[in-house]
Amino acid sequence: MEKLIIAAKSDNGVIGKNGELPWHMPADLDFFSRQIEGGYLLSGRRSYESEQGETIFKDKPFVVITRQEGYQPKGGRAAHSLEEGIATAEADGARRLCILGGGEIYRQALPVADRLIITEVHTVVEGGDAFFPDINPEHWKEYKRESHKKDSRNPYDYSFVFYTRIG
Ligand SMILES: NC(=O)c1ccc[n+]([C@@H]2O[C@H](COP(=O)([O-])OP(=O)(O)OC[C@H]3O[C@@H](n4cnc5c(N)ncnc54)[C@H](OP(=O)(O)O)[C@@H]3O)[C@@H](O)[C@H]2O)c1
Repeated sequence: MEKLIIAAKSDNGVIGKNGELPWHMPADLDFFSRQIEGGYLLSGRRSYESEQGETIFKDKPFVVITRQEGYQPKGGRAAHSLEEGIATAEADGARRLCILGGGEIYRQALPVADRLIITEVHTVVEGGDAFFPDINPEHWKEYKRESHKKDSRNPYDYSFVFYTRIG
């Protein structure tokens, strides 16, 4: 089972602010939807319960990571550690596990992920409270980058960047 991290981060590493995404970028939402198509989703409990969670998880197999006993997400599974979440997906026959954050989950998942798909949102976000961990070039090689200019719907330049593990 391939383990794939998918995230969008600002130039200063911010992924979230006050429990939400710090930007509205429809081009990234479209890209994100294409990347998770056919995948099995894994999410931290806070991201799952955030506003964007409602549509993302609908009609898809998923597991939510939580320390709460008895937590039962509607239509999905719960697990009580990242390792248990990965094992749950594997037991369900997942071929491609899409790890969707947030900050706590990215930090724990980075050492075990096979690939990263990162949207760089080219802005500096002040007051962010969730972050993507550093991508160490000794462990990760960028193999594809698609850059786009801001437009009437998307307020910042952005790049879709793909990494594969090299160590
Ligand atoms: N830009 C992006 O790509 C992106 C993607 C996703 C999310 N976000 C943003 O990120 C922010 C949320 O991130 P976050 O770091 O605050 O929260 P998170 O990673 O989504 O969820 C944290 C929760 O996961 C559970 N958890 C974490 N590690 C665990 C472990 N080892 N064992 C068991 N449970 C564990 C705990 O749930 P319990 O409290 O239930 O025990 C913890 O409170 C939001 O602002 C969201 O919008 C951004």
